[in-house]
Order: sequence, then structure tokens, then C-alpha cells
Amino acid sequence: MNTKLISKMVMSGALLMMAISANAGGGSGVAPVNNTLYAEECGTCHFAYQPGLLPERSWRKLMAGLDDHFDENAELDEVDRLKLENYLVTYAGDHSNYKRSKKLMRSIRNGDAPLRITMIPYLKKEHREVPKDVLKNEKIRSLSNCDVCHRTAQKGDFEERGIDIPGYGKWED
Ligand code: HEC
Ligand code: HEC
Repeated sequence: MNTKLISKMVMSGALLMMAISANAGGGSGVAPVNNTLYAEECGTCHFAYQPGLLPERSWRKLMAGLDDHFDENAELDEVDRLKLENYLVTYAGDHSNYKRSKKLMRSIRNGDAPLRITMIPYLKKEHREVPKDVLKNEKIRSLSNCDVCHRTAQKGDFEERGIDIPGYGKWED
């Protein structure tokens, strides 16, 4: 068996485990990604942001403009685009019982549809304490790269004990 196939199998196994825990109801973080197509299509250029990080209206807007996606072309064929939009909308933050999703959604003004998770008022506030010059580190570059600092981000866990900033170290408040 080639290594690519093995790693694919390991990945679908991991995603299945995550799907089981995601369906167990609300947790303290956000529900982990449990969709292989999503992890593959939306997790190559950057961290595969969990659906629970944005409300349905944001995902719909984002998925309607993939040809001009933050200055990149992230277009998909219509079948996959619809599949992923469905997935994102189903698990969107405003349909989630996870605590972190609820906090994020509560801070967004009614009707606002932010395209950036990093622009959600609650997160802007949480990130005020991030030292500005750490973003100059080429491993980080942008606050959009959640998993570089939040080492447990993939599990949907953004707790402070999981933060370890490259070139800076563990976050101790
Ligand atoms: C061709 C590369 C590419 C692909 C494929 C791609 N993106 Fe992006 N995405 C970007 C870039 C570049 C940014 C801006 C990152 C930054 O500012 O540092 C971005 C930003 C985002 C953000 C905002 C992050 C923030 O700052 O809060 C979201 C949400 C997002 N992408 C979702 C998706 C989804 C959903 C898909 C799959 C349908 C996808 N992306 C596929 C390149 C891509
Ligand atoms: C440069 C490193 C860095 C990046 C990149 C980053 N964060 Fe953070 N984040 C932090 C730090 C540091 C804190 C804690 C701030 C404090 O002490 O109040 C934090 C706090 C948080 C919190 C609140 C945690 C708590 O326990 O209250 C959430 C949620 C969060 N970040 C989500 C995200 C998401 C989602 C992304 C990507 C879109 C992201 N972060 C990107 C460094 C980062």
C-alpha cells in the first residue's frame, strides 16, 4: 500500500472518530470538522475552519464568492460547492450547541455576515492581547492561521492552555 493511501485511511478514521464526538451534542469548544471533502478542499491553503466559527449567513455569502476569495480563486465545481455549502450551513455556529460557537455568535450584530472569523467582535477582543510583532514571524504571518498558535485547534479546542506561539512560547495569562 502506498503511503498516500495509508495516510488517507488514517485521516478518514480520525474524521470518523471526530464525527462521533461531534454528534455527541454540545461541548466546550466548537464541533470538530467531520467531513473529508471539506478537509481536503478547504484545508489546503489554510486551517480547515470549523463550520461552528461563523453563522449560516456568512458561509452562504462566502460560498457564493469563491472565484474572488480573499484575492485567491477557490472555485469548485457546482456539485462539490453545494455539498460543502450544505455541510457548512448544517453545522454553522448559529445551529450549534457548542459553548464557543454560542459565544462567537452572540457577539455578532443581528444581520451582520462577517466573512472573516478574525473580525468577529468576540475574537477581536480576545486577540487584543496578542503581541503585534509575533505576526512578523513567517510561521504565523496572519491571525487567520489559527492552528499555528492554538495547537489543539483541530479538535475544536481554543482554550488558553493549548496556546503556544512560535517564537514567543506558551501563553500564560
Ligand atoms: C487557493 C487557496 C484557498 C482555498 C482553496 C480556500 N481558501 Fe479560504 N482563504 C484563502 C486566503 C488567502 C485567505 C486569507 C488569509 C489571510 O488573510 O491570512 C482565506 C481566508 C478564509 C477565511 C477567513 C479567515 C479569517 O481571517 O478569519 C475563511 C472563513 C475561509 N478562507 C474559508 C474557506 C473555505 C470554506 C474554503 C473552501 C470552500 C476555502 N477557504 C478555500 C485561500 C484559500
Ligand atoms: C498569533 C497567535 C494566534 C493566532 C494565529 C490565533 N490566536 Fe486565538 N488566541 C491567541 C491568544 C494569545 C489568545 C489568548 C488571549 C488572552 O489571553 O486573552 C487567543 C484567544 C482565543 C480565543 C479565546 C480563548 C479563551 O480561552 O477565552 C479563541 C476562541 C480563539 N483565540 C480563537 C482563534 C481562532 C478561531 C483563530 C483563527 C481564525 C485564532 N484564534 C488565531 C493567539 C492566537
